[in-house]
Amino acid sequence: MSENRLIQGFSKLTSNEKRGLAARLTKDPQASLRIMASFFHPEQEVHKVLSSFSENTLTNYPLPYSVAPNFLINGRLYMVPMVIEESSVVAAASAAARFWASRGGFRARVNGTEKTGQLHFRFTGDAGWLENQMPRLDKELRQRTVEMSANMVKRGGGITSLQLRPLPEAGADCYQLLVGFETADAMGANFINSVLEEFAAGMRDFFDAHADESGGAYETLMAILSNYTPGCTVSVEVSCPLEQLGVTGGLEAPEFARRFERAVRIATEDPYRATTHNKGIMNGVDAVVLATGNDFRAVEAAAHAHACRSGQYRSLSRASVEAGRFSFSLEMPLALGTLGGLTRLHPLADLSLEILGRPGARDLMMIAGAAGLANNFAAVRSLVTTGIQAGHMRMHLPNILLQLGATPGEQEAALGWFRDKKTSHQAVSDYLKTLRNKT
Ligand code: MEV
Repeated sequence: MSENRLIQGFSKLTSNEKRGLAARLTKDPQASLRIMASFFHPEQEVHKVLSSFSENTLTNYPLPYSVAPNFLINGRLYMVPMVIEESSVVAAASAAARFWASRGGFRARVNGTEKTGQLHFRFTGDAGWLENQMPRLDKELRQRTVEMSANMVKRGGGITSLQLRPLPEAGADCYQLLVGFETADAMGANFINSVLEEFAAGMRDFFDAHADESGGAYETLMAILSNYTPGCTVSVEVSCPLEQLGVTGGLEAPEFARRFERAVRIATEDPYRATTHNKGIMNGVDAVVLATGNDFRAVEAAAHAHACRSGQYRSLSRASVEAGRFSFSLEMPLALGTLGGLTRLHPLADLSLEILGRPGARDLMMIAGAAGLANNFAAVRSLVTTGIQAGHMRMHLPNILLQLGATPGEQEAALGWFRDKKTSHQAVSDYLKTLRNKT
């Protein structure tokens, strides 16, 4: 039950003490402790690794780890690991992957992999003087980070550009150094942030050394990577002659393609629809991002910023029907890594990368992009044909049965009964009542 007092030093308590305090907030603390214990990994070492990823860890929170087979991407077949709790997502990805595998598969390309970091600072002196110092600053700052960049440079990465930008909208004395980075197969957040903080120290030293000529005060405000990565994007496309689309949800190919193209155009023009449409893309993308130990919050933030780049939130995907050909494509930012971070530390992230054939970051961008386009295709296909609920509720049926406490026998009977019927919470509840009354 809730306790209305602040807890001092919670992070310093033992795991057992933390669990005890959290369990005390529940109706049945003993049962809560049992639930937490039941999700400990049976191998102490693995449990320790999982617990170490975060602070104040009480137990582990498992999600389904699935695969979607038959993803043909640039001529290579992948079985794609996906971590997601929404029941229809993996089924939809698999169905779309199989559909497109027999129509040429996904064609994907990486448009760029440059990431950006920002050192924000105040400078009250002459803007022209500062501008003139840039060649010197550029040299000195890069020099300071040679050692910390050495490994990254060996792998083909490093600092690619350094640019001064005034930001008068945030204050007359507000500036930033906009720094470009290549981070090879790493997502690179730690590398970028370390370089930026070293730059901040370098800037302070530079302004101290030139205090007599700068004519103003310098102050570092913050140094951090940007999750907006318009220079790190992937494009994925599927296409086929109209007649190869076949009959979809009872619709002949031209009618299906016309409705599909119109649906995507609506998502391009209407932010309400665009948000849901892009959520369907992120269903696939996030599931792969999670399965490979990447940062889905960074990917989400970048995707939605990209969707707004015209000044209005729009669909990330495009569809067209031209000269008898149906095409469907996606362009989105995807800053992913296959080295560093959780990618090797989390045993399942490592396994995902192995299942994928140990891709580099560029390959993983294309795989995650293809999963996004696949889920988007499956969702819009359902929406413009049968509607989303038929398939969604069929997949959700086992969850409803669990919620209603169905026995294994009742579950089996219900799965058979609802195979060709409309599924809803009420219908399943009524069915179980009837079944139970009979026995
Ligand atoms: C549900 O998770 C995703 C959809 O809403 C996407 C869409 O509407 O395109 C089905």
